[in-house]
Amino acid sequence: MPGDKSISHRALIAAALAVGETRISGLLEGDDVLRTAEALRRMGADIAREHDGVWHVHGLGIGGLHEPEDVLDLGNAGTGVRLLMGVTACHPITVHFTGDESLRRRPMGRIASPLKEMGAAIVARDGDKLPLTLIGSNDLVPITYTTPVASAQIKSAIMFAALGAPGETIITEAQPTRDHSERLLRQFGADIRSETSEAGHRITLVGQPELKATRIRVPGDPSSAAFAVVAALITPNSEVRLRAIGINPRRAALFDCLREMGADLTMTPVEGTYNEEPLADIVARSSALTGIAIPPERAPDMIDEFPILAIAAARASGTTRFDGVRELRLKESDRLAGIVQGLSACGVNVEERDDGLSVHGTETIAGGATIDAKHDHRIAMSFLIAGLSASEPVHVDGVDTINTSFPRFAEIMRDLGADLQNVPR
Ligand code: S3P
Repeated sequence: MPGDKSISHRALIAAALAVGETRISGLLEGDDVLRTAEALRRMGADIAREHDGVWHVHGLGIGGLHEPEDVLDLGNAGTGVRLLMGVTACHPITVHFTGDESLRRRPMGRIASPLKEMGAAIVARDGDKLPLTLIGSNDLVPITYTTPVASAQIKSAIMFAALGAPGETIITEAQPTRDHSERLLRQFGADIRSETSEAGHRITLVGQPELKATRIRVPGDPSSAAFAVVAALITPNSEVRLRAIGINPRRAALFDCLREMGADLTMTPVEGTYNEEPLADIVARSSALTGIAIPPERAPDMIDEFPILAIAAARASGTTRFDGVRELRLKESDRLAGIVQGLSACGVNVEERDDGLSVHGTETIAGGATIDAKHDHRIAMSFLIAGLSASEPVHVDGVDTINTSFPRFAEIMRDLGADLQNVPR
């Protein structure tokens, strides 16, 4: 499986802010991460690719990035642009950010608000959207901030900005979100404490550390592994083995849900040289699935997996219900709408609510539909996987977007036996 996208962005960014040379192996070489690498290069970081997935970054230290000469175009990369807004906020530089049609529709006010509170100036189109201009400062103030929604991107943007502010920045989240930034920055030498109490999950970061270069191994991406796992579960006589997949508890809740649905999944822990991240080898075998209600509090730990969960749910007996996931409307596309439109077009009965869905499973997905991926890699991959189980082929328009997170998707799925036509590579 490809390297973890979230960790790949963070590894490049943290390495660019460290002093010395960091070696990263297993880096995801998808378009999203390459955009982050290019943006950091344009701000002066020396970033070189040695060979497949192995990259070297000579960091400039916190405060060492330069003003880029031109607009930084982050393409489809929401994580890239939001984390880089945090990074640039603590530099006395002016940066213009933009992205593709999908990214230009996504909300940026949630990142801009805390950064403005810390002392950055931000002007955005329509107040909240890209393109935006950020004027950073080497004089930011630390803040105490409660995130308005469960979002690791908001938390991480504040953390990267807080690296440049003196004193303690405290972030509280009602529900804990993926903690890759915390784990990675600790490895670079940052002083970060996390504690959970009744008030929520609290992260305290002590600003102005000296980050020291290190070696990073990026685990396999559980969000990409999810496609191969569900493919195995819903296809008769299948067994798929996946090596060294990240199973950070803040990412791996899909596997818990699938097990509760009856999936035959074996996870064998891999003893770790992968930094602070837990890993497992995963084996998935064809299974008869049963629908369940997904507890809303689990949503942040599987936030990117709802499209592929919906495909598994379409093949389960009974109803699978998920609620409390309005955030899915603000991803690369409106994923609740995308799932409903796609599954309905494929003959599956789905009910849409403002913040969730009920998918009524069926023995056979009719298929025979054309799905518009709407610049959303996970919608594109999910409906190609649905095709494995459909009576008539499922066509997906806009499969180029798969390159953002899983460049070898078509090759790997074909090697597993999928009949994929007209998908490049
Ligand atoms: C990510 C956090 C999540 C997730 C995204 C990657 C990250 O977004 O959907 O694909 O790397 O921090 P939110 O933080 O907006 O929930």
